[in-house]
Amino acid sequence: MRLHGDARSRTLLAGVAALLFAAAPTRADAENAEQTFAQKCAYCHGARLEGGRAAGLVKEVWLYGGDPASIADSIRGGRPSDGMPAFRDALTDGEIGELAAFIRVKADEAQRSSRRGASGAEPELALQYDFYDVQASQVPDSSGRNHTGTIVAGRIVDGRRKPAIQLEGTGVVTTDSLTRDVDLAGRAMSVGAMCKPSAPDGVIVSMGDAADGFSLYLQEGVPHFAVRIKGEIHEVAGTDPIQVDQWSHVAGVIGEEGGLALLVDTWTVAAVKRPSFLARTPAGPFMVGGDASTPAATSRRWHGLLEDVRLYWGAISRNTHHELLGDWADRPGCGCHR
Ligand code: HEC
Repeated sequence: MRLHGDARSRTLLAGVAALLFAAAPTRADAENAEQTFAQKCAYCHGARLEGGRAAGLVKEVWLYGGDPASIADSIRGGRPSDGMPAFRDALTDGEIGELAAFIRVKADEAQRSSRRGASGAEPELALQYDFYDVQASQVPDSSGRNHTGTIVAGRIVDGRRKPAIQLEGTGVVTTDSLTRDVDLAGRAMSVGAMCKPSAPDGVIVSMGDAADGFSLYLQEGVPHFAVRIKGEIHEVAGTDPIQVDQWSHVAGVIGEEGGLALLVDTWTVAAVKRPSFLARTPAGPFMVGGDASTPAATSRRWHGLLEDVRLYWGAISRNTHHELLGDWADRPGCGCHR
């Protein structure tokens, strides 16, 4: 093996790589574009590109073409006959290019999620902590999406079937990266874990801040799933407590139509129809065992074990996802593992 390589070809390669990366839109570009969109476009096209005074831009059929170049043309020159103003004087070509790329990405995401949302479609794993290979308090994300969690005061112990995290009222596992990388606004999702509580109160998993977010928690042993939308709480709660010091599988679901459901050991124990989609991806961290936005931050901390924490895009139900729930909840005799 040649250790020194050819300096010239390495420089060339570095040059090519630099070009490739320069051409690819970066996260900073996307953030700029998002801001420009909010300032100059959202008034007509809606804050989430969903439409308002003008048509939405997350669509499959475009009047003037949906490729980035045609989108850029629409922005630059406007479509005066339809009432779309020209932005060639207000924005640079660079900004217009970023906006066009941003719109294309959002349109693709919306199409993927509507396919995901189609009933019977397989939910897609957005995050999974199964607590294998935890090193130096870093919890790998087994979904492959790199939402590595950080353990703050907790330890890994043997769980029911996999490793579990033991939390004693002060610990959490937390990550911020979900907020940046996972779009949860306006779509179905499911979140939950295998739980063995040693106290009847505590947050299983939560995400968000004072305005938008969700929290799956026990209160006097009774599972609750709350979604906060622009500060307003929508909630579904079970009727019976789960057993302290026993394993139960608990999951909260925002359904395809936006209704909330609560699953305990794969059974739907409560549901409300009122649409409760998140208005935006929660800005606060994703947190296992606690809730960053609870005013008394430690009062609802989890006591006991949590195993196999998962977040999915899409609504999981016993009727349609036997295999998935059979694997996640693994309850002998639950009848869902066919
Ligand atoms: C004053 C309202 C208004 C503003 C502000 C506005 N648009 Fe539009 N836009 C329209 C209307 C009206 C149309 C054409 C018909 C429709 O789609 O409703 C349109 C069409 C478009 C189209 C073409 C859609 C297609 O189907 O081909 C794109 C792309 C677009 N706008 C992007 C933008 C972007 C990006 C901004 C911000 C820089 C922006 N618009 C700001 C009103 C507006």
